[in-house]
Amino acid sequence: MQNFEFYNRTRIVFGRETQNNVGALTKKHAKKVLLHYGGGHIKKSGLYQQVTDSLEKENVAFIELPGVMPNPRLSLVREGIALCRENGVDFILAVGGGSVIDSAKAIAAGVPYDGDIWDMYVSGVPPTEALGVGVVLTIPAAGSEASVGSVISDDSDNNNKRAFNHEMLQPQFAILNPELTFSLPPYQTACGASDIIAHIAERYFTRVKNVELTDRLCEAALKTVIRNTQKVLQDPNDYDARAEIMWAGTVAHNNLLNTGRIGDWASHMIEHELSSINDVAHGAGLAILMPAWMHYVCKQDPALFAQYAVRVWNVEADFGDLELTALEGIRRQKDFFRSIGLPVTLGEIGITPAHYERIAQNTRRSDKDTVGNFVRLRSEDIMQILKLAE
Ligand code: NZQ
Ligand code: ZN
Repeated sequence: MQNFEFYNRTRIVFGRETQNNVGALTKKHAKKVLLHYGGGHIKKSGLYQQVTDSLEKENVAFIELPGVMPNPRLSLVREGIALCRENGVDFILAVGGGSVIDSAKAIAAGVPYDGDIWDMYVSGVPPTEALGVGVVLTIPAAGSEASVGSVISDDSDNNNKRAFNHEMLQPQFAILNPELTFSLPPYQTACGASDIIAHIAERYFTRVKNVELTDRLCEAALKTVIRNTQKVLQDPNDYDARAEIMWAGTVAHNNLLNTGRIGDWASHMIEHELSSINDVAHGAGLAILMPAWMHYVCKQDPALFAQYAVRVWNVEADFGDLELTALEGIRRQKDFFRSIGLPVTLGEIGITPAHYERIAQNTRRSDKDTVGNFVRLRSEDIMQILKLAE
């Protein structure tokens, strides 16, 4: 196990009706709030009314910025920064999913920064300060509610999508009420499950040896998400199953599961290029890429991939040699994604061989020479992975 520091400042408030505490929680951090949300599902569901009632009850002053799109746009972030400066906003309240939260984090880091917020995403310029962020989460998926990350798309420049990680981006609090996820359509539920699975798998496939506790925590979280996703697709109002997925989504990405180990992240970096080409949902892109990446790299450590196949995908221990066992696990994972309605080939989302060069170039550009840690992928490796995903 590697040396590590674990720190996560996000207060989690979990359970039924917890969104009604948002005013009191926000008041502890804010004088004036920017209420930030997406395309309007929160108005339809009544959540918008509950949140604004709670803020008003606690006399928290707020202004609003709706309109965050999936794969959130830099132009709206810039608009939010200007709005906050003009109105003396000192706290951002994000009500929605990963896109709304990531947009809120970018605004929070951008308000006190003299330069252009995009510097942080392109060059990794660290913030010296940032406004606080609070979250009412409506989709378990990105894990942004307790993560250090934010992912933004530059809509003025070929829609490049870039991630930025910094401790100051971690929200002050996150309200997680599984009831708020009952309204998720099956496809969005499945995309969320795929993203959660990918966050765990990116951490699981490591070169670091002797990490049994986190291996087993990862396996438990994976099995929980797989089982309960099947349940909520049968019954979208199954509170307990929605609750298991919601908590797993936060634990998957709050850094607990990579304590003492080094994750890979190549599939995520390649996926960001898919999303930037055709706006595919992040979880759908990952359902296509993760199995292809696994297939390409599993021979580097067949024992680890066989362990994954046996413990997570219930492949029989005497299935065959380690590599055959590993490949059977990957096949079952792909079948699972297909069974929950996700695409599993690039063709299904309109990505053709004509796009491969651009994807390989842009993915590498975001990490200089190579991508990923389990195997350091070069352009030609990325091209091979894309071929396996056809
Ligand atoms: O726009 P609204 O009306 O809010 O509708 C959203 C949106 O259309 C809808 N939705 C959300 N909750 C709902 C709901 N519809 C019905 N009922 C509900 N309860 O779902 C759609 C997708 O929302 P989005 O926020 O885009 O989904 P998600 O949470 O999957 O976030 C994806 C984004 O997060 C980034 C991804 O790259 C992508 O841009 N990621 C962020 C990470 C981080 N900050 O740590 C890590 C992840 O790996 C990921 O890269
Ligand atoms: Zn992700």
